[in-house]
Amino acid sequence: MPSTRREFLSATAAAMTLSTALPEPATGADSPSAQAAQSAASAYAAPTEVKAVEFINLREIEPAAQKVIPAGGFGYISSAAGDEWTKRENEAAFKRVTIVPRYLTGYKDADRSTTLLGSKVSMPVIVSAMAQHGMAHASAELGSAKGTGEAGALYTAGSLSNNTLEEIAQASAAPKWFQIYLPADRGVATEVLHRAKAAGYRAIVLTIDTVVPSNRETDVRNHFRSPLPLGNYPGVSGAYAASPVKRDLDWDDVEFVRQTTGLPVLLKGVMTPDLAVTAVARGCAGVQVSNHGGRQLDDVAASFTVLPRIADAVRGRATIIIDGGIRRGQDVFKALALGANAVAIGRPVLYGLALGGWMGVQAVFQHLDAELEMTMRLAGARTIAEISRQYVNA
Ligand SMILES: Cc1cc2nc3c(=O)[nH]c(=O)nc-3n(C[C@H](O)[C@H](O)[C@H](O)COP(=O)(O)O)c2cc1C
Repeated sequence: MPSTRREFLSATAAAMTLSTALPEPATGADSPSAQAAQSAASAYAAPTEVKAVEFINLREIEPAAQKVIPAGGFGYISSAAGDEWTKRENEAAFKRVTIVPRYLTGYKDADRSTTLLGSKVSMPVIVSAMAQHGMAHASAELGSAKGTGEAGALYTAGSLSNNTLEEIAQASAAPKWFQIYLPADRGVATEVLHRAKAAGYRAIVLTIDTVVPSNRETDVRNHFRSPLPLGNYPGVSGAYAASPVKRDLDWDDVEFVRQTTGLPVLLKGVMTPDLAVTAVARGCAGVQVSNHGGRQLDDVAASFTVLPRIADAVRGRATIIIDGGIRRGQDVFKALALGANAVAIGRPVLYGLALGGWMGVQAVFQHLDAELEMTMRLAGARTIAEISRQYVNA
């Protein structure tokens, strides 16, 4: 194996959703490996239907999606690292905090609109960055971005998308952020970041928790390897292959990302108050409290468990997003009560996409928004700003 290919496989595996999510690197569009990748991609039978989707709650869309997504792709989306304890804990942690309702408020509606880093959105729920939406549906990120935009919500495009970042930017007029796993080659990194800025993304989300591969045992068991091409790194050859994702990320890299575009930067993967405070001191506009949906280091705490201490440390000086296990409007409410400005959702977006294309994604957002509205009405909160710690027993 040539050294560039060997390096590519190990280093990109470290930074992504890992070797399993990656297509084989090709050496040229007409090379045998490129042709093999092409035919493997066409052999991956992602759902194609675009239709209205009905469901009672977000938990039940997972088994429904399992019926339509190819087994390897479903395993890749649904599974997590190690014993998957952190993944389960992400959901379980929400049930350990109870809501304290306030009655007789005289309120007759609940406004869910809010502003995130200057972008007005209809709800405090956004898409969390995810690689390879083509695993869930043939429309890939074009479908998820359109559905999110139709719901008036904010979209985070993952840099390991199947569509290009420019195509995704055009898929809806709604505000979007761009997530990056930082390439080790600063030239490659600069180019991608400049493309994101030129395409109209309003913030950069730098993922910091993926410096080496994790033990996704389901993918190993399934011998799963994504056959789909990465939109932003065509053929996964050339500059990107020669420039694997940076393994030794540090604060200089954060500064580099900040300086390169001048856009607001959010650090994704923050799990401690110390790190959040340093991020603020070093000029980050936000932090995304996240353990990658339990897909990286198993046995770390649920993101919701660490949220209150991080919010206390940040003291309103930066935007706080939280992701991991958010499946109910009550979860959104509790996260806002404990200091988040918004929540991000991952797997449910891909399940909605699988079930109905962009209409399924829109339905996921509309459902969560309706549950949040109900929760706010029943708990006696009229605006997002009003949701505070007095509404929970934590
Ligand atoms: C299929 C899949 C791919 C993901 N890819 C990325 C990625 O490329 N970059 C990233 O920062 N996080 C990635 N994540 C993590 C999500 O952004 C998020 O942290 C997690 O999914 C939230 O948990 P939830 O799925 O329980 O809502 C991925 C998650 C999934 C399920």
